[in-house]
Amino acid sequence: MNPPAIAIDGPAASGKSTVAKLIAKELGYTFINTGAMYRAITWYALRRGANPADAAQICALLPEIPLEFGKDGTCSTVLFEGRVLSAELTSPETNQYVSTIAAIPEVRAYLLRKQREYNKVEPVVMEGRDIGSVVFPDTPFKYFVTASPEERARRRAKQGLTDSITERDKKDASRACAPLTQAPDALLVDTSEMSIEQVVERIITDIRTKLA
Ligand code: CDP
Repeated sequence: MNPPAIAIDGPAASGKSTVAKLIAKELGYTFINTGAMYRAITWYALRRGANPADAAQICALLPEIPLEFGKDGTCSTVLFEGRVLSAELTSPETNQYVSTIAAIPEVRAYLLRKQREYNKVEPVVMEGRDIGSVVFPDTPFKYFVTASPEERARRRAKQGLTDSITERDKKDASRACAPLTQAPDALLVDTSEMSIEQVVERIITDIRTKLA
């Protein structure tokens, strides 16, 4: 049996990264940001001059892709030529194409293996879009973190980012392969009127009850 896996899903700018990081810290588990994995593939494909809309071109890059999915302390990282990717992952070009590339089934299958590998050796808090529905369908710890579209737009603007989260959410929710969805057994946490501390508390309480 694998160590515990906490699945945190939700739309863009719902606050799930912040919350997932804090929960991981509190539990002493490793935090895995799967969005960064999709973003890294997108960044690399664009750097190689591939057309994001041409799935065959993107798939051809996968077998030799020089990205390393590792971790730094208790946080997942993506390395390229020994360097941790960071600002590249939230560039306007990456934001623009990540949902297109994340819709390619082969890309998802490739990353699914990497994501599950993390949990073979240690407990994880993993955030994304399909963690409770596809990556860890059997985990009892599933949380769907959301907020009203207005509140999410406000939070995104506060981060200084202006990417079109509505468009990305629409693409993520409507794709055929592993769409953004609330797993039927996930606990819905609407954070529109909640502080970060309240959200963390709500989820940690549920995890501790289930672990006991
Ligand atoms: O930070 P934000 O919530 O805006 O996005 P992210 O978590 O970094 O994810 C970026 C994009 O990667 C999403 O819009 C999805 O297209 C894709 N993604 C996915 O398809 N499945 C995941 N498990 C995580 C991200």
